[in-house]
Amino acid sequence: AIDPEFETNREVVEEHEGHDVWGPVEEPETLGIHGTHVAVDFDICIADGACLEDCPVDVFEWVDTPDHPESEIKADPAHEDQCIDCMLCVDVCPVDAIDVDPG
Ligand code: SF4
Ligand code: F3S
Ligand code: ZN
Repeated sequence: AIDPEFETNREVVEEHEGHDVWGPVEEPETLGIHGTHVAVDFDICIADGACLEDCPVDVFEWVDTPDHPESEIKADPAHEDQCIDCMLCVDVCPVDAIDVDPG
């Protein structure tokens, strides 16, 4: 599961589409955590898609991650600023790849 203390245990190493990426990042096999308020651990995501289907405000967008060992697409929190903290995505992700920090 995603580390709920990632903001303490990791460092921001790059930006992607307006949100932070928490390392380590070593493409293509290590991709880090995308987002801060809505954080998705790309190294855990298996592209289940439940988060994209269920988010009421369409926070997520698919991004291509060719040659990643878990999946070749990931749910990117492209619009994390629109999150309403309903926690649905956290509940439905089968591999607990998402952390949402209300407030
Ligand atoms: Fe979308 Fe709710 Fe998840 Fe926020 S907590 S990203 S609104 S599903
Ligand atoms: Fe990935 Fe979990 Fe969404 S596996 S696509 S973050 S439901
Ligand atoms: Zn991203």
